[in-house]
Amino acid sequence: MYFPGLEGVVVKETKICYIDLENSKIYYRGYDLEELARLSTFEEVTYLLWLGRLPGRRELEEFKARLAAHRLPPPHIATLAKSAPPSAEPIDVLRTAVSAMAWGEDLSDKSPEAELQRGLKITAAMPYVVAAFDRARRGQEPVHPAEAGSHAEYFLWALRGERPSPREARAMDVMLIIYAEHSMNNSAFTAVTVASTLADMYAAVTAAVASLKGPLHGGANVDAAKMIEEIGDVKKVEGWVDEQLAKGRRIPGFGHRLYKKGPDPRLRVLRELAKGLAAERGDFRWVEIAERLEDYVTAKLAAKGIYPNTDLYAAVIFRYLGLPVDVNLPTFAISRVAGWVAHVLEYRQANRLIRPTEKYVGPLGLRYTPIDARG
Ligand code: CMC
Repeated sequence: MYFPGLEGVVVKETKICYIDLENSKIYYRGYDLEELARLSTFEEVTYLLWLGRLPGRRELEEFKARLAAHRLPPPHIATLAKSAPPSAEPIDVLRTAVSAMAWGEDLSDKSPEAELQRGLKITAAMPYVVAAFDRARRGQEPVHPAEAGSHAEYFLWALRGERPSPREARAMDVMLIIYAEHSMNNSAFTAVTVASTLADMYAAVTAAVASLKGPLHGGANVDAAKMIEEIGDVKKVEGWVDEQLAKGRRIPGFGHRLYKKGPDPRLRVLRELAKGLAAERGDFRWVEIAERLEDYVTAKLAAKGIYPNTDLYAAVIFRYLGLPVDVNLPTFAISRVAGWVAHVLEYRQANRLIRPTEKYVGPLGLRYTPIDARG
């Protein structure tokens, strides 16, 4: 049997995430994601995804302290982030930094505790790496705001060099919760594939970051941001979309392998979040463009099963939060690492080497001719 794009192929049993397409709901470990987005934090959700249950107060405090202790990465990683050429893409700097985090560590212990600790170190250090690189390319020194209360606040503060408002930090926190996990997406599958060889967590996450980069996956949140910039005015939406479709191009932030009968359930939270940020700033331009895009593209393409996905509103939210466009993508990684680590830990519980097969359709029986006789 042949399944192009592995569509519909079940690769593992899971207790991490359930997507209820029928009722347009997503559950992390049995908890409704919309409720988590309203009431929880990224740190608590990460604990939930990794350990399978919500932490008690003391457990959460300990977990946050462990994360905080690893926010400032080892010196060679801090140097790498600072010294990458300014023309580098931030997602590539992050990918290389995650890989280099393996240097100097004894990786022989592959116990769940050791791998979880590696996952924690990667998760903790990602915001600093992205922020330090972004500041360095603008000629600014890195900032390590140790007093930041949350992962989300730390990231925005390290990027800007100034404390974000509580509302901004909370908006980033909600984004991190929403992006944290989404079943067997390409990057989670990549992480699991690498982990199935018993390579370490650094290897698995490095590969997952590489997968996320592609414009059909996480890279869409950069393309969606470029799209709303390029459109720039709600009145230009229809013309822009028609032109792209006439050229046979895809509209970033639309379409999904799973959501063929209706929009991504996460959109409800993100649309409201985007509107809230717009109202706070008194600037509705970006959210209006997204809403018009949503209506127009859906009207044109719903018959093909194309609806808006998270990356459309993520681009708007990150715009309001003032992220440089190409930082949208590593921000996705800063969040999704929670899901990658959870999937690696879960898969290892009943590890089996991932090694699919393929259907050979080429010729057979060709005879080797020496190079001089080939003309
Ligand atoms: N704009 C216009 N047409 C589209 C789009 C789009 N964004 N997406 C799919 N189509 C068309 C596609 O050309 C095809 O048309 P036809 O049948 O005439 O050839 C039809 O819809 C079915 O597409 P498909 O490629 O079979 O669908 P898929 O399930 O393999 O692809 C996708 C899913 C996400 C790769 C695709 O929808 C896409 O390229 N979207 C744009 C990039 C994007 O937003 N990616 C983010 C995905 S969600 C978050 C994440 O994973 O990070």
